[in-house]
Amino acid sequence: MRLLFFIMLKQITYLKSVYKLKDLPENKLPEIILCGRSNVGKSSFINSLFNRKSLAKTSSTPGKTRALNYYLIEDKFYLVDLPGFGYAKVSKEERDYWNKLLQDYFSSGRNIISAFHIIDSRHKPTPLDLQLNAFLKKNNLSSIFLLNKVDKLNRSEIIQSRKLLVEAFPEASTGDNVIFYSSVDHTGRKEVIKKLLSLL
Ligand code: GTP
Ligand code: MG
Repeated sequence: MRLLFFIMLKQITYLKSVYKLKDLPENKLPEIILCGRSNVGKSSFINSLFNRKSLAKTSSTPGKTRALNYYLIEDKFYLVDLPGFGYAKVSKEERDYWNKLLQDYFSSGRNIISAFHIIDSRHKPTPLDLQLNAFLKKNNLSSIFLLNKVDKLNRSEIIQSRKLLVEAFPEASTGDNVIFYSSVDHTGRKEVIKKLLSLL
C-alpha cells in the first residue's frame, strides 16, 4: 500500500482558492499547510513535488499567492498553499486582511496535521520566519523545516545553513524535521514524500 502511494503521489488536483472562510472545503480531510515568506518557493515546491509544470502559479514578483490555495492529494489529504508572509508591496489594509484570514483559518477547527515551513537556505532565517514560527507554535503546530533553493549552495554553505537554522529554531537540532530541498533539481523530494507518508 505504501509503495503504491509512493508511486501514485502524482494525483494532485487543484481544488480551489479560498478568500473567505465560508468557502473552505466542507470535507475535513487532514490538511498540511505550506508556509513561508513571500517568494521563498512555496508554489514551485508543489509543482516540483508532483512533477507538474504550472499547477501552482509561480512568480518572480513576491506576493503572487493571495489566497488559501487548496490542492487535493490522492483523495486523502489537502495541501494548502498559504499566502506568503510579509510581501512588501501591498497596502496595510490588505496585509491586515490576510493576517486576519490566516488567524481565522487557524482558529476554525480544521484538521491541520502539520506545517511545512519553507525557508530560503541561502539566508539566515529572517524576522518573518521567527514570527511565523511563533505563530505556528501558538497554534500548537510543529513544523517541518524545508530549506529551499539548495541547488544554489555548495557543501560548506549547506552546513552553515543548517547551523543558522538550529540557532534560530533549537527544535530543528534533531534533524528529523529538516529537509533540504530544491525545486530545480528535486533534491529532497524522496524525503518529503517519506515525511508525508509518516504524517498520514
Ligand atoms: P509567493 O506566492 O509570492 O508567496 O511566492 P512563492 O513562495 O510561492 O514562490 P514561487 O514558487 O513563486 O517562487 C519564487 C521564485 O523563486 C521563482 O522565481 C522561482 O523560480 C524561484 N525558485 C523557487 N524554488 C526554487 C529552487 O528550489 N531553486 C531555485 N534556484 N529557484 C527557485
Ligand atoms: Mg506562491
